[in-house]
Amino acid sequence: MKITSTFASLLVCALGLATAVHGQQKKTTSILINPPGLPKLPTAEAAKEAAAAAGLNLTNIQGDIVVGMSKLFETFVFFSIADATTFKSKLRSDILPLITNAEQMLANETQPDTLVNIAFSQTGLTALGITDNLNDTAFQSGQLANAQTLGDPGTTNWVPQFTTGTIHGVFLLASDTQTSVNASLANVAAALGTSFTQVYTLVALARPGNQVGHEHFGYLDGISNPAIQGFDDNPLPGQASVATGEILLGEVNDTMTRPAWAKDGSFFVFRQLEQLVPEFDKYLTDNPIVESGLTVQEGADLLGARMIGRWPSGAPVFLSPLADDPALGANSSANNDFTYTAPNNATLCPFSAHIRKNRPRADLGAESKNTHHILRGSIPYGPEVTAAEAASNKTTIERGMAFTAYQSNIVTGFQFLQQTWMNNPNFFVKNNTGFDPVVGANHGAARWTEGNLDPINPTRNFTLVNDFVISRGGEYFFSPPLSAIATTLST
Ligand code: HEM
Repeated sequence: MKITSTFASLLVCALGLATAVHGQQKKTTSILINPPGLPKLPTAEAAKEAAAAAGLNLTNIQGDIVVGMSKLFETFVFFSIADATTFKSKLRSDILPLITNAEQMLANETQPDTLVNIAFSQTGLTALGITDNLNDTAFQSGQLANAQTLGDPGTTNWVPQFTTGTIHGVFLLASDTQTSVNASLANVAAALGTSFTQVYTLVALARPGNQVGHEHFGYLDGISNPAIQGFDDNPLPGQASVATGEILLGEVNDTMTRPAWAKDGSFFVFRQLEQLVPEFDKYLTDNPIVESGLTVQEGADLLGARMIGRWPSGAPVFLSPLADDPALGANSSANNDFTYTAPNNATLCPFSAHIRKNRPRADLGAESKNTHHILRGSIPYGPEVTAAEAASNKTTIERGMAFTAYQSNIVTGFQFLQQTWMNNPNFFVKNNTGFDPVVGANHGAARWTEGNLDPINPTRNFTLVNDFVISRGGEYFFSPPLSAIATTLST
């Protein structure tokens, strides 16, 4: 048969439509970055086997929950629901087929062109007519009501759109090109039409070149995320292995009462955290650790590493106390394999170090005693530091971290880590050790920290007059299971 050009173009058009209707084209390359040093996703085979044994349905869980900090391009689109009836009907007919589940993310062949996920705030669930109580007080009140608890200096630095109570939900769109992300967003927007309004958008992307996987201060990020039992049953040495219910609602060890439809969903915390990189660098060079044999720059690098608890490569100071060890940082079987084995001892890693504050390991006893695990999926946003900013030691263009975390309980998860550990100078391990010097917050007032930051002079007080991380606000969301998108949320 001779195919006329009109017929050919109709065929192409029909195929295009089929792609649009049935989801998206498949990719042969991964949409995830895979820097050495970060834990890899389990193989599809291993994850399916673990899930089958645990009775977990990976196709019902949204994909972003499990991928961790490995996205190349990710755009967050915060929206308001304008017409709930139309929104619900489009959610079921047009958006649900686009939603990427956890199983799809496990192999290149099953990954979509763009990961599309959706999550709702409490006001969003209310707008959809949901009256069930998800039983998390932080989620219910929203992040704005939590600003004081989190140590923010009020909401003066908040992105205005996070303060108006109009954010009902967020679309997460991630891919290996911004073009794919934009095309996917155009699909979503066309499908929802005037039933929703885009309130605020944050475009985020991994840093370039050898900084891929590193946050803006320069440290490899995403190394230590817990492995979820029933998804990844082969944790790396030192990696926490947590019951499904620590991350997913209604699963093993989730002790709260939840509506049945919320099972296998997860609370999604979003925070836009601006990072003052030139100011942070200047602080380090002005306050180096003075140790014989170290240059001023090496002393500054040591202070930075002790503030985080890891070197830029990811090597932990506990295992590599005086200098970075890039081979260790790149080795995911070794770079998380430590505990703070001698509680009350901070010679190797300061008590106030960011990673010790957030996961005190043996300071708490067995890892099973830690009920404050979160699954981070953050990604940097904003451009690299310019030469002018570096020369003036002053930030003029906003950059930072689109901080995201999943957990089954925001109060004992994200909120607890920020409020009770990072912002608390009387950290339970040892009193009077000070704030987390990087992310701890004191309502904008000066923070102090000693916490053995200086190994030579453990009581040396570092007074941090200005924050290096500025909260620009955010919101608390619920990432529902696909089954709820198909039913409760769309009918
Ligand atoms: C701009 C702000 C932040 C920066 C620059 C930052 C940076 C880092 C870095 C470099 C690591 C080490 C790499 C890794 O283990 O993945 C880390 C670990 C971690 N961070 Fe942050 N972080 C920030 C905000 C937060 C916030 C807001 C929280 C929670 C409330 C948090 C919780 C954690 C946890 C739980 C770990 C892993 C600790 C471990 O298991 O050893 N971070 N962060």
